Amino acid sequence: MTIVVAVDGPAASGKTTLAKRLAAANGLRFLDTGLLYRAVARRLLAQGQEPMDAAAAAAAARSVTADDLDPAALKAERIGEGASVVAVHGDVRQALLAFQRDFAHAPPGAVLAGRDIGSVVFPDATLKLFVTASAEVRAKRRFEELRREGDTVMYERVLQDVVERDRRDRERAVAPLTAAPDAICIDTSALDIDASLAALQEAFDEHAARKPRKT
Ligand code: DC
Repeated sequence: MTIVVAVDGPAASGKTTLAKRLAAANGLRFLDTGLLYRAVARRLLAQGQEPMDAAAAAAAARSVTADDLDPAALKAERIGEGASVVAVHGDVRQALLAFQRDFAHAPPGAVLAGRDIGSVVFPDATLKLFVTASAEVRAKRRFEELRREGDTVMYERVLQDVVERDRRDRERAVAPLTAAPDAICIDTSALDIDASLAALQEAFDEHAARKPRKT
């Protein structure tokens, strides 16, 4: 019996940081599934291929392994942009399903952060959380993070990128970003990281701690 917690939400919502901390606090393993799509994009870019090329992207997805998931190597904006393009290909998503399911099924269970974990990858997850915040708040957080790293980007540009990434993630035909009907939505627009984590932990305590998933 393993616990599977799905944490979905839009770009820069804080879901990955929160999901990671939720996993650590509850002794579960953690997977940031965005890294899988980023690894596919990185491989294509390194080979001089286009993220829009569905066949090349599917081939890259089939060869992704745990060794390709180093967050530091996958952080660049152009890799994130490429990831949201490769993520529209059905064959890419299909190729990455087994990795995600195998990861989560190993005991004691896991927290997975992504866009379609509760809706497609684990429709029977123990607990589904949908973490969101307004586009302006998400852009502001991302802007401040980039500035801290020495980037001179303008806020308006970051907001434009957040809005465009949302549109692509929500409007794609296969596994679009959406809250599963049975997901608990947590809006962090007015919450700092500790208050947001407390909201996730409260949902976990109420719905998952005593309800291991049957496998
Ligand atoms: O969370 P992130 O920024 O690392 O994700 C990069 C892209 O990958 C994002 O634009 C959409 C895609 N993605 C996805 O389609 N499904 C997931 N489960 C995770 C990420």
